[in-house]
Amino acid sequence: MPANTPEQAETPALEHRSVPGLRLVRLDRNTPQVELLREVVSCHRVVPDQRRFVDEAVHTLPRADADPDRFPYAIVLNEGDLTDRARALDACAGFGIIDRVGHLRELVDAPETAVLLRAFYVTPEHQGRGIGRASCSAPLIDLLVAQVAPQAQHLILCLDDGNDQGERTYRAAGFTPTGRRHDAGERGWQSVFSRPLNTGSHPVPRLPEPR
Ligand SMILES: CC(C)(COP(=O)(O)OP(=O)(O)OC[C@H]1O[C@@H](n2cnc3c(N)ncnc32)[C@H](O)[C@@H]1OP(=O)(O)O)[C@@H](O)C(=O)NCCC(=O)NCCS
Repeated sequence: MPANTPEQAETPALEHRSVPGLRLVRLDRNTPQVELLREVVSCHRVVPDQRRFVDEAVHTLPRADADPDRFPYAIVLNEGDLTDRARALDACAGFGIIDRVGHLRELVDAPETAVLLRAFYVTPEHQGRGIGRASCSAPLIDLLVAQVAPQAQHLILCLDDGNDQGERTYRAAGFTPTGRRHDAGERGWQSVFSRPLNTGSHPVPRLPEPR
């Protein structure tokens, strides 16, 4: 990758302290590292038992690419640049999407002040090491939201009934139930969770528009 690309400039600010090397890399960009990561997330598979809670990136990434309000990202665990597929396969620990619109209108009273976290997962081999909690805590995801929706004050998500691991993760990351329930059709009922975003007190890297 050439030196001083926007991707490299973004990396140090997005690293998480409690999980060394953890960073979120936006996939709506056109760099060699992003190209590798897009290929790798498309190979992710969650365990069958968790498939009822989330669709893998192979399904959700194309839908995000087609929607200018959805911002897909890879959860990456490495200290250096990703330049080859083998390292990218090892380092890419999960995926998620920030959605500025989605079905927020059905979930909160002031959708214009919120963003939705969706399609979020940590791959089975990386689970249970604090990556899930750290990657949806401040400062990592707050900095990402600051780039794509600086006006947002709340991060919202829908949690399927029975997803105990998800609930523990989100509560540990500062989310609380809003008391609202969402009917997700065939998937059943979900609880709406929210946490305040801390986007204002961090410097927001100035990045070119990705699209
Ligand atoms: C939910 C998910 C993202 C958590 O990722 P993770 O990296 O394993 O989470 P962490 O290691 O940060 O653990 C977070 C909490 O979950 C707890 N946890 C870990 N494994 C667990 C398990 N099998 N059952 C219950 N809780 C569990 C941890 O102890 C921790 O709680 P604590 O802070 O109180 O100790 C991951 O399990 C996943 O991708 N699940 C499938 C997809 C999914 O459910 N996505 C959410 C859709 S809304």
